[in-house]
Amino acid sequence: MGFGSRSETMQRLSEMCCVKINRKAIEQEDHGNGNNGTAAHNHRNGGGGSKKIRGTVKLMKKNVLDMNDMKASLLDRIHELCGKGVSLQLVSAVHSDPSNGLRGKLGKVAYLEKWIRKITSLTAGETEFGVTFDWDESMGVPGAFIVRNHHHSQFYLKTVTLEGVPGHGAVKFVCNSWVYPSHRYKYDRVFFSNKTCLPCQTPAPLLKYRKEELVNLRGSGSGELKEWDRVYDYAYYNDLGKPDKGRDHARQILGGSEDFPYPRRGRTGRKPTKTDPNCESRLPLLSLDIYVPRDERFSHIKFSDFLAYALKSLGQVVLPEIYSIGNKTFNEFDSFEDVLRLYEGGIPLPSGPRFGKLKNRIPWELLKELVRNDGERLLKFPMPDVIKVDRSAWRTDEEFGREMLAGVNPVIISRLQEFPPRSKLDRAKYGNQNSTIRKEHIERNMNGITVDEAIRSNRMFILNHHDALMPYLRLINSTTTKMYATRTLLLLQDDGTLKPLAIELSLPHSQGDYHGAVSKVFTPAENGVEGSVWQLAKAYVAVTDSGYHQLISHWLNTHAVIEPFIIATNRQLSVMHPIYKLLHPHFRDTMNINALARQILINAGGVLEMTVFPGKYAMEMSAVLYKNWVFTEQGLPADLIKRGMAIPDSRFPHGLNLVIRDYPYAVDGLEIWSAIETWVKDYCSYYYTHDDLVRGDSELQSWWTEVRTQGHGDKKDEPWWPAMQTRADLIQSCTIIIWVASALHAAVNFGQYPYAGYLPNRPTVSRRFMPEPGTAEYEELEKNPDVAYLKTITAQLQTLLGVSLIEILSRHSTDEIYLGQRDDYPDWTSDEEPKQAFQRFTDRLIKIEDRIMGMNQDKRWKNRVGPVKVPYTLLYPSASDYSNVGGLTGKGIPNSISI
Ligand SMILES: [Fe+2]
Repeated sequence: MGFGSRSETMQRLSEMCCVKINRKAIEQEDHGNGNNGTAAHNHRNGGGGSKKIRGTVKLMKKNVLDMNDMKASLLDRIHELCGKGVSLQLVSAVHSDPSNGLRGKLGKVAYLEKWIRKITSLTAGETEFGVTFDWDESMGVPGAFIVRNHHHSQFYLKTVTLEGVPGHGAVKFVCNSWVYPSHRYKYDRVFFSNKTCLPCQTPAPLLKYRKEELVNLRGSGSGELKEWDRVYDYAYYNDLGKPDKGRDHARQILGGSEDFPYPRRGRTGRKPTKTDPNCESRLPLLSLDIYVPRDERFSHIKFSDFLAYALKSLGQVVLPEIYSIGNKTFNEFDSFEDVLRLYEGGIPLPSGPRFGKLKNRIPWELLKELVRNDGERLLKFPMPDVIKVDRSAWRTDEEFGREMLAGVNPVIISRLQEFPPRSKLDRAKYGNQNSTIRKEHIERNMNGITVDEAIRSNRMFILNHHDALMPYLRLINSTTTKMYATRTLLLLQDDGTLKPLAIELSLPHSQGDYHGAVSKVFTPAENGVEGSVWQLAKAYVAVTDSGYHQLISHWLNTHAVIEPFIIATNRQLSVMHPIYKLLHPHFRDTMNINALARQILINAGGVLEMTVFPGKYAMEMSAVLYKNWVFTEQGLPADLIKRGMAIPDSRFPHGLNLVIRDYPYAVDGLEIWSAIETWVKDYCSYYYTHDDLVRGDSELQSWWTEVRTQGHGDKKDEPWWPAMQTRADLIQSCTIIIWVASALHAAVNFGQYPYAGYLPNRPTVSRRFMPEPGTAEYEELEKNPDVAYLKTITAQLQTLLGVSLIEILSRHSTDEIYLGQRDDYPDWTSDEEPKQAFQRFTDRLIKIEDRIMGMNQDKRWKNRVGPVKVPYTLLYPSASDYSNVGGLTGKGIPNSISI
């Protein structure tokens, strides 16, 4: 019997053209599991008979934190779980059942027994149950189990551990999945042990289970998806508007067209709208019941954190609005002191019936969070880092330049290689869009060198927000926004800091685009009205940069582009697949936060449109800019080379000569990139010993095809997609995915509150143009520059809304899992070598932490702290942090895009 099964396995394996690896797999099965010769001999002779196998099941009941009386309810539910309510059935990894389509033989059904103990850990409500299996020893090692939930409510199955499996010792199953009552599924819920294997290495009795599980996860492609569904499928961004409410509420469908390409989102399958059958209808605004595959939804604690912050912030906006009734000047800040009051004194809360009503709608525990200083009834934001030490250092030119290297959007600045800067916009359509900045504007300020010398010695830089914005500027300026496309030239000085030399503000020509840009050049000035004009010019640059940051650097280039990889991974790679195990931690919570974003942030009339200057054109503009997205340029070294910020040179660390040595994002980023790359290489090389295995891996090939042709389907014909034919392709692609989901997102996300929490430093909106000499606005700028500045940038209500939003987005949750950590550690795989490689990765990240802290204290590196005295910690990994504290820490690289 045993021999027969081996032959079946071998036959299956040779069919799949990877005989070599199969032998290795079989040897591992014999040796790796502690299977000694005697046990194997017993199996082959069908000896052994029935044995009891003890199992421990860890699970969590639904909504534990929502219950009023947690203890009593929990006990109720534990009792309810006992008594044949939940059954488990082991599946043999060795013997197939001819009467069941050659699926692995099933053991006898066993039921959850009495609870062993409640685990008092962070994850409240976690419970352990015992289970005893009658297992025929001749069936060999179990490789999977089937679970059936006969209760009326779901539970979260964390792990199952079998002890004393004959000849194998312990067998572990890491499940981390919601199991709904059986009647919700048309199939059995199957979980596999933590053995990692390529499709061709899968024991034959498990192959069908493996394939069927993927088919289940792909779904039928039709119908509205429900809470308990586990379906991963693709859809266009056709759910942002509400066309039934009128034209103003309709929004462009993003994705599926040449003009508006976009990465796909997770399919929800809601009904189409009446007006436009191609658009999907929306849920009510405050409903958070958006479908995402069940296991992608926030875990309990995380979600309640998110809700608390979200509702608190909503309160911080709604409440002042109520308060503003009767306060005529509410929508303008009168002075910078007025702005500071948001952080220092707080804004008094109103009382009265409207507040009472709001109170009734919010659960008490969230209200405590909402009104942080309950006794004083004051609304107060935390002090943003950028003004913590010095209230006015943000205004300096040095800080303005430094934030391009170490702020929240350090991914735009590039080395200037031709002067004057040229536009890449189509001349036939947009006329002459080249820069009007001339040498005479800037050379007097260049510490004695000429423009040509500065370019030759790699000292000229540009923050270029011209070409991206210009095509949309006419439309944007037809709203209340009054904005310019901007170019900022900077000089690298001997001390490593950047000195701004000129800012060019450009508008479309009033007589039509093909007449070219109308531009004005502004140069630094410290005093008088010229000084105020220069401050305003810098503010316009900050507005373009903050809009581009939020829409492109943050939303599009991290949140949106990762979602298709998550969908494809779950549809095409089995949980047993090594690449699934490699990438899965980097996908945690992303589909859910993106779904919430579509619901309340990026939708028509949502927070993004209200707070970011492109307003209702914001998402459409991001689709146009997705045309420039190139997967292989998302890795840090390629990005730095493309922007001219690094020159390939093998004499330098990581093979790159950074043209600005004190470029904190690049310096720390390359360390992190290299650590990720080494880890991915070590890991992939263990499973793919040669390129043929990459080519012959059916799941991997389907996965990559789907990423290209469906997930990023609007880019399917791009020549730059790695062909996924070699180990190098695989390592490069996985390194990029992990980099984008972890470090890149952290770099552009968690600095939002520290830098933009104080809106004057990074305003999101401009409401009027630069005052012209001779006008009343110019006179005001001369007499009262602060008032003029505040009247130009984001207004008070928008500020409150924007600051509330970025306060949420900049927070680390209390159950954050940082790069170099895994929540399924140490049982995520049964393979020792990959575990050791992961430990090396963690150790290296901890060393990088020390290095970053050391550099931040070293006075030579002026850009790491700057005039505002905010050390660069956005790429501090926090791999050593297990504190579960979370909050506005300004440091830490979570594994995934979760906020
Ligand atoms: Fe984010």
